[in-house]
Amino acid sequence: MQLDQLKKIIYGMSGVHKGLRLYPAAHPAIQQQAQNLAKDFLAAFQKKPRIRLGILEDTLFFEKHMFVLSEPAIEEVRTLIAERGLEGLEFEVGLSAQEIQRFFQILHESEVGGEALAQLLTDQGITHIQPVVLETQEADERAEPPRKIYQRALTVVSHIFNDVRMGRIPSTAEAIEVVGSMVRSTLSEPHALLALSLLKDYDNYTFTHSVNVSVIALAVGHACGLSEEKMRTLGLGALLHDIGKLIINKDIINKPGRLTEAEYEEIKKHPASGSVIAGQMEGISEEVVDIILGHHLNYDRSGYPADARGRKISQLADMATIADTYDAMTTLRSYQRPVTPRMAVKNLMDLSGTTLHPILLQKLVDYLGPYPVGSLVRLDSNELAVVTKVGDRQGGNSVDLKIITTSEGKKLPQPTLATLSGADLARIIAEVDPVGRNIEVTEYFD
Ligand SMILES: [Fe+2]
Ligand SMILES: [Fe+2]
Repeated sequence: MQLDQLKKIIYGMSGVHKGLRLYPAAHPAIQQQAQNLAKDFLAAFQKKPRIRLGILEDTLFFEKHMFVLSEPAIEEVRTLIAERGLEGLEFEVGLSAQEIQRFFQILHESEVGGEALAQLLTDQGITHIQPVVLETQEADERAEPPRKIYQRALTVVSHIFNDVRMGRIPSTAEAIEVVGSMVRSTLSEPHALLALSLLKDYDNYTFTHSVNVSVIALAVGHACGLSEEKMRTLGLGALLHDIGKLIINKDIINKPGRLTEAEYEEIKKHPASGSVIAGQMEGISEEVVDIILGHHLNYDRSGYPADARGRKISQLADMATIADTYDAMTTLRSYQRPVTPRMAVKNLMDLSGTTLHPILLQKLVDYLGPYPVGSLVRLDSNELAVVTKVGDRQGGNSVDLKIITTSEGKKLPQPTLATLSGADLARIIAEVDPVGRNIEVTEYFD
């Protein structure tokens, strides 16, 4: 659907709404506005019989278009929806000028919102405008556990990648929505999504890598005390960071072993081409584009693209670089043995101050604690356990474990749960590498 067509409807709605502050509903000016609006709707219904206007993360969207720039008419319609406790409005073919006029009159005369508004509209015979009632956040979160959010993020990434491969400009709404859920999950239940980012799906490396980098970047952002809004920017940039790789020859991307110089030159183009693709997507901010462009610029500003080195790149890009490096280190690739979370932290620290931003990295390291979630550890009793949760976000003051073997190393049929805190944390004596022990750490996360 054409953007100007949708914009015209929004302006029309704002017009009727404002008009009712000046004139009674029966005034010819209002009638005229409602008729014009009905015509604009009719034109839109030629393409689709049901269209949706709504709010996602505080931004107004209409069908697939996000309206990030604030304009008075857009703000007016956004407020109109938000104030009534709605997620959006759905308009259906058959909508008449009279219904439009009645709808705005009801909004003008009554303060009701949510379900009550939906009921009132039905009672008044307005059937072609349906309010989408906002579910409470609590219900939202109950309905969507971290694993589901993670899966949804994978699906969103697959859609976006598919669009890019087909040469289409990907739509942004789904990505913005899922990143919003990831941010909320990270804030309310730190480490839960992070644990899932350990799920290494070898076949789907391209998708899981994008989701993992986003999840880990959010952990960095949370550790650094970013605002929720900045977290959303960071999460989105990280989710899209490698989008430019999709237009590079697959043989180069998947090549095991060393690349030739020419092949490496090709790879080095992906931040710049990714930033161009993202720049064409609706509702993607400059800052998100910057993360994509800067994710291979090292802390010492070596790295690539060389021509972006002089440019001021936000710290969000440095956070994404840390996440990208961390995920690459812990992932099983055809040419690389995965390292454990604790070993990965040690390897990251080796890059502190050169490749990686030292202060931001230290915050992440403190956040992860000495035994990051997903670590397999040996206790002083000689039992093996998986770290399933790290408590206090600034230093891991408590750790939840699933003990999975006996002291003799026999696997337990059911793991036993334990929480260690304070001095008891010293009961963890070492990290153990699950590779070769026939232990799949991710099995212990539900
Ligand atoms: Fe990259
Ligand atoms: Fe990457």
